[in-house]
Amino acid sequence: MNKHFFDLCDKLNQNHKLELDEYVALIESFNPTDAEYIFKMARSVRDEAYGKQVFLRGLIEVSSYCKNDCLYCGLRRSNKNAQRYRLDKAQILDCCKQGYAAGLRTFVMQGGEDSHLDDDFICDVICDIKKLYPDCAVTLSLGEKSCESLKRLYDCGADRYLLRHETAENEHYSKLHPKEMSLETRMECLENLRKIGYQTGCGFMVGSPFQTTKNLALDLSFIEKFKPHMVGIGPFIPHKDTPFAQYKAGSADLTLLLLSVVRLINPNVLLPATTALSTVDESGHILGLNAGANVIMPNLSPIEQRKKYSIYDGKKITDMQACENVALLKAQLEKHGYTTSAARGDSKVKQIIF
Ligand code: 5AD
Repeated sequence: MNKHFFDLCDKLNQNHKLELDEYVALIESFNPTDAEYIFKMARSVRDEAYGKQVFLRGLIEVSSYCKNDCLYCGLRRSNKNAQRYRLDKAQILDCCKQGYAAGLRTFVMQGGEDSHLDDDFICDVICDIKKLYPDCAVTLSLGEKSCESLKRLYDCGADRYLLRHETAENEHYSKLHPKEMSLETRMECLENLRKIGYQTGCGFMVGSPFQTTKNLALDLSFIEKFKPHMVGIGPFIPHKDTPFAQYKAGSADLTLLLLSVVRLINPNVLLPATTALSTVDESGHILGLNAGANVIMPNLSPIEQRKKYSIYDGKKITDMQACENVALLKAQLEKHGYTTSAARGDSKVKQIIF
């Protein structure tokens, strides 16, 4: 029996935190046979906070242009094979219309760092979404921005912002990113988001090149201290046109463990079962929910653009319209004992007042 693993799970469940070396030991003593122990704990903590309700967020991939050159990402600027597009306002609003009809009440505008999508444009779109759908939340996932820009977008009505920290360790960060990017700037941006009042999400990839168990422990420690409202975790998946093409994908099992750990650290966190997880394991959504996740983000992007938003290879692309997609997803979730919520699904993490 893997007593050390069980003891560490119990301790985490009680205290919502562990020492760095304990996170390392937890990860190293984990094996898929014992996983159900922590999955069950994470489910019960999630059920206590949110019940069996799964929140659906409509993902709109607004631009595949990116000025950054992150070594892992297929949208990196030096990938000359990438197909680039950006949606205009009418296209974005059309995605929202379809998503609203399908019952979604959060729209996530995600994209590369594209200077053509300037603050004026994004503000204009947010204002229109809020006018047309006042009962919906708007989430942005558009990379690093200045504090002034973030404030402006917030004042226009944006509610939430996702900005994965990618790794909480400097040296590892510099192996994944070009030298003009820094962990310091990323962390500063996350702090700004929180101070402005956004429900803020951070996150990281599992199994990214050069990642050590200690790196993951630092990610968990950071999440413990930062107390984000949302955490995005998915396996790294190589993209053929990046410098990391030859590295292997992160494991689904380890991703599931980390989802459970994050749920136990922060019972109220909004935690998606990500598309990347479903890409490495086709039951990823259900496995993620059974490990403590409570959010799924169906893709609302126009069908003809979806394949161009190629962050990693093998991304699941369906030819179904948003409505059909969402209806199928809802049916699948119900089969597994989950319900879907028509509410905005705001975080229950208490806002820290600065
Ligand atoms: N594999 C998995 N996830 C990736 N991301 C970017 N590239 C990859 C990849 N190759 C993730 C990053 C980013 C988010 C939008 O997608 O964590 O923050």
